[in-house]
Amino acid sequence: MKINKICCIGAGYVGGPTMAVIAKKNPNIQVTIVDINSERIDAWNNEDLSKLPIYEPGLSEIVKDTRGKNLFFSTDINKAIDEAEMIFISVNTPTKTYGKGKGMAADLKYVELCARNIAEVATTNKIVVEKSTLPVRTAEAIKSILHNLGTDVNFSVLSNPEFLAEGTAIQDLLNPDRVLIGGQSEDAIESLANIYKSWVNDDKILRTNIWSSELSKLTANAFLAQRVSSINSISELCEHTEANVQEVAKAIGMDSRIGSKFLNASVGFGGSCFQKDILNLVYIARSYNLNEVADYWEQVISMNDYQKRRFADRLIKTLYNTVSGKKIAMLGWAFKKDTNDTRESAAIYVADHLLNEQANISVYDPKVSKEKVIVDLNYLNTRTEKENENAISFTSDPYESFEGAHAIAIMTEWDEFKTFDWNKIYNQMKKPAFIFDGRNLLDKQKMNKIGFEYYSIGQ
Ligand code: UDX
Ligand code: ADP
Repeated sequence: MKINKICCIGAGYVGGPTMAVIAKKNPNIQVTIVDINSERIDAWNNEDLSKLPIYEPGLSEIVKDTRGKNLFFSTDINKAIDEAEMIFISVNTPTKTYGKGKGMAADLKYVELCARNIAEVATTNKIVVEKSTLPVRTAEAIKSILHNLGTDVNFSVLSNPEFLAEGTAIQDLLNPDRVLIGGQSEDAIESLANIYKSWVNDDKILRTNIWSSELSKLTANAFLAQRVSSINSISELCEHTEANVQEVAKAIGMDSRIGSKFLNASVGFGGSCFQKDILNLVYIARSYNLNEVADYWEQVISMNDYQKRRFADRLIKTLYNTVSGKKIAMLGWAFKKDTNDTRESAAIYVADHLLNEQANISVYDPKVSKEKVIVDLNYLNTRTEKENENAISFTSDPYESFEGAHAIAIMTEWDEFKTFDWNKIYNQMKKPAFIFDGRNLLDKQKMNKIGFEYYSIGQ
């Protein structure tokens, strides 16, 4: 099928950057991104490119080049569906917060709504592409909805999981390690492959059956998360044995079978994918009665929860077993640098733990707003909105948060933290001045020389 028009349902962290790059590399294809959230669509259409709803290095430049030419953002979902030959489903699939599978299974209600919407509106044949991360065999459900509700329209369903990481999304999209397309219809697969071939070599485009494609996405995220939990488990051992986790990571990473990437010990992984996808994998394994498989992967999450708790406990213990009434300056709230996304960020859980101990927290993050910080804490339901607002302050000038602080907790590895005037900061703080570096971002010797009591992960 010749593709002239693409519709993408969901203008989020996946849909937005992915479609922007597809539009940039395929000037002859009209790409329309639609969303039920009109505020989000307005933000994507904002003249001021610094107000796009997603911060991602390189994204605003591509939007500037393509928006209004062959990239459009709209709330008219039905029109975009009807006009397009190819429809990407790129909506959120959070962990269920109710009913069967609560806290484990992916909530597919948004995906199902999209499938129903497509079936009701489509008057011509469509290729429907799953972009969101979905449990293995979801395509079956999508197909069933499309074929039972649709009239004589022919639908082909493909799985084309996205492997971009936030903060490097544009680079990941421009130079992917691979593009994965799973499906049954060879024609449909080649229609999608042709879009990627505008900038990706064919030997990097992998064609598989649809179930392998769905499961590969969950597996890739599970393996990546497992590496972080593995090195984090070793970090605690390092703290007890005077081994240095960065030296250990370097030593093992030089083994080409292990590889050097993704071995940075940290306060714990966050983001919208890792935890959700592993919980989902565990849920699916249990649903087939594969309890050993489920237990194995569940441990990756347990280790991550432990690492976040351990970081907060270490801080409390070092501050003479109490943080009550003490000011803690938190540097960073995003789940990693170069993104404004805070979903499952370790900072949320560490802050919650410290607030339970009655700490006064002052947050600085270059891309996250105060409203977002409060929403994240309210979501945990640990205390009332009023209590959260009273216990946490937010500053747009980091030096304000250091004034009179007992300790600094580095939660996100933003580059700018490295260039702060640490001598000045030392003078602003109560003594002894503590730093708990959850990202091993600063130089221990330099910090000790200034006078800080410096604690990092795995050293
Ligand atoms: C991840 C996958 O990398 C990506 O392929 C998939 O499409 C979506 O999920 P993302 O969550 O955006 O991407 O970021 P990623 O770079 O994987 O980081 C996830 C978390 O792990 C972050 O909190 C990061 O700080 C943490 N991390 C990563 C570590 O703590 N140590 C590391 O060595 C690497
Ligand atoms: P991701 O990280 O997977 O991109 P986001 O939450 O950033 O997730 O984006 C998903 C987007 O999908 C949200 O903007 C949400 O409003 C949108 N969405 C969810 N359900 C629908 C739907 N039925 N129709 C249109 N858009 C939807």
